[in-house]
Amino acid sequence: MDKLQIVGGKRLNGEIPVSGAKNAALPILCAGLLTGGDVELTNVPRLHDVKTILKLLEQTGLKVTQDDENVTLNGANITSLEAPYELVKTMRASILVLGPLLARFGEAKVSLPGGCAIGSRPVDQHIKGLRQMGAEITIEGGYIHAKAKKLKGARILTDMITVTGTENLLMAATLAEGETILENAAREPEVTDLANLLVAMGAKIEGIGTDRLVIQGVESLHGAKHAVISDRIEAATFLCAVAATGGDIVLTRTRTDIFDVALDKLREVGLQMDVGTDTIRARMNGRPQPVSFRTTEYPGFPTDMQAQFMAVNTIAAGPSRVTETIFENRFMHVQEMNRLGAQISTEGNTAFIKGVDRLVGAPVMATDLRASASLVIAGMAAEGTTLVDRIYHLDRGYDRMEVKLSAVGADIVRIK
Ligand code: EPU
Repeated sequence: MDKLQIVGGKRLNGEIPVSGAKNAALPILCAGLLTGGDVELTNVPRLHDVKTILKLLEQTGLKVTQDDENVTLNGANITSLEAPYELVKTMRASILVLGPLLARFGEAKVSLPGGCAIGSRPVDQHIKGLRQMGAEITIEGGYIHAKAKKLKGARILTDMITVTGTENLLMAATLAEGETILENAAREPEVTDLANLLVAMGAKIEGIGTDRLVIQGVESLHGAKHAVISDRIEAATFLCAVAATGGDIVLTRTRTDIFDVALDKLREVGLQMDVGTDTIRARMNGRPQPVSFRTTEYPGFPTDMQAQFMAVNTIAAGPSRVTETIFENRFMHVQEMNRLGAQISTEGNTAFIKGVDRLVGAPVMATDLRASASLVIAGMAAEGTTLVDRIYHLDRGYDRMEVKLSAVGADIVRIK
């Protein structure tokens, strides 16, 4: 299993290109199932999760042609309507094939995703919405088996805001008969990016970017070209890295209009930023200031940035408090950061961070994707050597993070 060896204390200096967003690419690739035409995608990030979803899609008969960050999909000859347990268990986003397969072919059989490291993460809202659109759904042998000759438009109000739930129902609604209204829809830029692709494919969607999506179903969708939106979480992760180590970096290929409140919080940390339309120059001198926050849905503070900000808070000039409201178990990085000398305690869904003068390198273990990124940041801020184990989590969602960071001066190498 690969590890990262990091020697901390190096300031960052130079340019980092930001990749396409994982959480936009995954639903967008699944949208290839909605048409027999060519869906030509650019800016698809080089990630393990992308490989996994492409493997799953190829298994349904979807034709995939890939040239680095360019991927063309063709769904003219779909032969299987099933997403098997072996693939779904490794990546929960596999559930995103359910809506498209059911809407276009009238049937889908998708393994029920299990719990995962950050929480139980049920998919009851995906199922509830599809049932409201007339699908007959049974759960047997660990599989969701959904059938509907033709889905029917409905007004769907989800119990909570769900990102992939909104995406699944949105894709299903594009081919349903009549009008579907998705109330309480997720407004994440990645949902908007999917909606924009669907419109380019011929879907009729109003309210894009709001919490009320109104979809008029159409008979069929056609091929389209689309560039995947830039990854705001990857970008903010690099900004946290420079906030923790100090330095002067420029992020390129970013989209600064899609950022959430994380940028404001980085200013509170003390990061000086010049924000252009697709670049951010970020400079940091001195010790970070502590920032307290609660995670919420977009455009509030993203749960996917909670761990990385906590890494910065561990060495801040004062105490801070972080509350996680989206997932019930997303503090697994706390014990690992404490192994580096951080002083963090937790009470329920709140972490109390003291802010210490220095961290000292140690072996640590990555437990999930964003926790891994936070340990890389903590290791870069620590004195001496940190070994981050189980970095397959990092490879799932960051495009060669160690290559991008060492190009701007970090001392970080992958050990096979
Ligand atoms: N929930 C339910 N029932 C459902 C759906 C969701 O109870 O049917 C709950 C979840 O358990 C959770 C909350 O609602 O407590 C929100 O979950 P959501 O469905 O929004 O999460 P998701 O769609 O499974 C996506 C991202 C996550 C990101 C969350 C929140 C993708 C592929 N994944 O997950 O990304 O944390 O939204 O923004 O888009 C990551 O990139 O590291 C990651 C975990």
